[in-house]
Amino acid sequence: MDDGSRWEPDGYLTFIREEIPAYDRLQDELVKATRRTSPRRILDLGSGSGETASRILKAHPYAELVGIDASEKMLASARRSLSELPATFHVGQIEDELPDGPFELIVSALTIHHLPGADKQDLFDRVAEVVRPGGRFVIADVVVPTEPSRNGIELSEHDHPSSVEDQLAWLSEAGFQPHLHWSHGELAVISADLR
Ligand SMILES: C[S@@+](CC[C@H](N)C(=O)[O-])C[C@H]1O[C@@H](n2cnc3c(N)ncnc32)[C@H](O)[C@@H]1O
Repeated sequence: MDDGSRWEPDGYLTFIREEIPAYDRLQDELVKATRRTSPRRILDLGSGSGETASRILKAHPYAELVGIDASEKMLASARRSLSELPATFHVGQIEDELPDGPFELIVSALTIHHLPGADKQDLFDRVAEVVRPGGRFVIADVVVPTEPSRNGIELSEHDHPSSVEDQLAWLSEAGFQPHLHWSHGELAVISADLR
């Protein structure tokens, strides 16, 4: 389990853009995958320093956002940079009980791949319980690529990516209608509407 202590807000964006050159494209595709939704409440799993949250709130200015992350340090930075926005952040593990729903939209960028497959399955079941029926769950993350990697993302012992195929199957089992929105080597955005 990742307790978040290894993540540092200072220099995060420089670091992550070096690690994942397509970082900004991944975030853009996540936002695109939320189009044609009109969420009132959004849940962000693994908010970190608030990059994903700020992009999502820009696209959905009438929504309020709840974010969780294991790292108090990262969230302190998110609270500072999003202080003018309708966002609240709570320290928590995504393996634990999720904030009370319902949410019309749940997003997660570069966080769920930290969970082994069985924990992802469990998370998807719990996400289905807090999404409003007809609502959407969008995952933008590192996956096991179908062909040898083009992006050259280095994995550590904290990373447990799964294939898109497995995640689509687990989301279906949890009651979603999922599809692959975008992929590029070992990066993918999966969009899943709750039936
Ligand atoms: C790469 S950052 C992503 C932050 C942001 N979503 C973005 O895309 O820039 C990953 C974040 O996931 C958090 N994290 C990792 N494992 C977690 C877990 N099991 N529960 C909650 N947060 C976790 C880390 O603390 C870190 O802030």
